[in-house]
Amino acid sequence: MEFEETVLNRRMVRNFTPEPVPEEHVRRILDLAMHSPSAGFSQGCAYIVVRDALRRREVGKIQGEVDYAAGGFGEFISKAPLIIVPCVSEEIYHDRYREPDKLQDDGKEIQWPVPYWYFDVGAASMVVLLAAVNLGYAAAFAGTFDPIALRNFLGIPEKFHPVGTISIGKPAKDKRSPSLKRGRRPFDQVVHFEKW
Ligand SMILES: Cc1cc2nc3c(=O)[nH]c(=O)nc-3n(C[C@H](O)[C@H](O)[C@H](O)COP(=O)(O)O)c2cc1C
Repeated sequence: MEFEETVLNRRMVRNFTPEPVPEEHVRRILDLAMHSPSAGFSQGCAYIVVRDALRRREVGKIQGEVDYAAGGFGEFISKAPLIIVPCVSEEIYHDRYREPDKLQDDGKEIQWPVPYWYFDVGAASMVVLLAAVNLGYAAAFAGTFDPIALRNFLGIPEKFHPVGTISIGKPAKDKRSPSLKRGRRPFDQVVHFEKW
């Protein structure tokens, strides 16, 4: 698939067929995600792959999918054959930026005007979404409101923060998010040349 086609075809699809995603594709998607950039090459992201049906059901419960089902979206988290849970560790970034080549002239760690760990897990998650679409799948990210329950259930170490779930599978007929009615903002309102 051409790059532009992949980008334009990507949208959050919240319904999937039960067809499993072969191991080779799971690895391909995550291998590509690992090629996304990270501040100081900290590489502070990690991913949990959940395919077992009972475990997917529990993840769906934690993600509050009863509410999605009540809203007409179906149980799109537990019913997706593949769930990827992207996680990030802020601590890894602090450790990296306390290494000699990253210390400021005053010998201190930078003040982090932007929390780059969240930037990086977002960039990596976008690669997961695009890689899935590129392989002919559909995907949907759902943020988490209970990262502690996700961490406990999936055995994620304390220093890693799960940011949500990415459901992946072959697309089935889906209900589109009502948020899309907002419409896409016009280019000239979003892009500013030379100065805002
Ligand atoms: C950071 C982030 C959090 C999101 N959280 C949720 C969520 O919790 N549940 C959900 O159904 N969609 C979620 N979405 C999907 C957005 O609603 C969706 O990307 C947006 O409406 C644009 O639609 P599109 O991705 O299909 O183009 C999230 C997207 C992002 C980038």
